Amino acid sequence: MDRMKKIKIGKLEINSYVYIPPMAGVTDLAFRKIIRVFDKDTLIATEMVSSKSLMYNSNQNIMKLSPDEHPVGIQLFGHEPEVMAKAATMAEETGADFIDINMGCPAPKITKGKDGAALMREPELACEIVKAIVNSVNVPVTVKMRLGWDECQRNAPELAMKLEQLGVCAFTVHGRTREQGYSGNADWNAIKQVRERVSVPVFGNGDVRSPQDALKLIEITGCDGIAIARATMGSPWLSMQINQFLSSGNIIPDPSNIEKLDIAKLHLYELVKIKGEVIGIREARRHLINYTKGMPDSASVRAEIGKINSIQEAEELLSRLKFFFEDNVIKLSNTQENNEFSLISAT
Ligand SMILES: Cc1cc2nc3c(=O)[nH]c(=O)nc-3n(C[C@H](O)[C@H](O)[C@H](O)COP(=O)(O)O)c2cc1C
Repeated sequence: MDRMKKIKIGKLEINSYVYIPPMAGVTDLAFRKIIRVFDKDTLIATEMVSSKSLMYNSNQNIMKLSPDEHPVGIQLFGHEPEVMAKAATMAEETGADFIDINMGCPAPKITKGKDGAALMREPELACEIVKAIVNSVNVPVTVKMRLGWDECQRNAPELAMKLEQLGVCAFTVHGRTREQGYSGNADWNAIKQVRERVSVPVFGNGDVRSPQDALKLIEITGCDGIAIARATMGSPWLSMQINQFLSSGNIIPDPSNIEKLDIAKLHLYELVKIKGEVIGIREARRHLINYTKGMPDSASVRAEIGKINSIQEAEELLSRLKFFFEDNVIKLSNTQENNEFSLISAT
């Protein structure tokens, strides 16, 4: 970690330039376990948790942490300061190393209740929430935001300044407005405006897909670190590659297809272990599709994955794919040339 300085989020010092931010339906316990196979240090957070649901004793499973996965944060969404503060206390008791407040979710079902990105156009309420949480917990409090509600209300720098004064210890800024959803490109120059207005660490976020992208974002924005979300799906080794590149300039190659299939299997087993076979398999389909993206004949593989209904079917498909690649490695080493073939029909 010599090229860049270490990041301190309040009292939490991390040995990573990367934050894997919350992704609902993705950054669950199983996913985080797989991330930790590659990177013990990256900052990571749970899926977003409804503060209100915690008051009714539901949704506590999402906050379940494993003792060996720190540093890990719990992200809360909601708009009632007292409820958010109580939820933050519960999250702290669960073992969260930091509490992240969601001020970025653009989904209408979230924003219509003043939650998520809606808080960006209610700056006073956002401040009340931060005050209430900071007064209730001892762990650092962070905020994840977008550039603003829409093109006319890009208030991220001003809001960040206010929230920093109230005790927010770091920001993650996704370089799009709520109105943009995921369209267009993330505006990294706009993230720079937040970086310049606060003194706590800022993680630039949006469209980073490789170590080179990460460096470029840091060069453009001056950010302390990068938050990478979608690109980690099916590539849980990416944060390790980025950390290595930013600290030493070295590029660690992607795992081979055979190794990727082994990692996919591990992820599948974790999901089934934690959520049971029915839910585990249903959720594993999306991850398996991501792991096999870019492999030959991936469209047919995707269709096959969509039909998996049991752990046995999943194991059979993964073994079939692995056998195919092992066979191909032997063929390649014999002939030294790449053959075109179909993964599914070859079996
Ligand atoms: C499937 C999915 C779920 C997400 N869930 C959350 C969430 O719960 N909380 C949040 O703050 N952001 C959430 N996000 C936004 C990401 O954390 C991130 O800000 C966004 O994807 C942009 O980063 P990227 O270009 O690296 O993907 C989600 C994104 C995706 C794709």
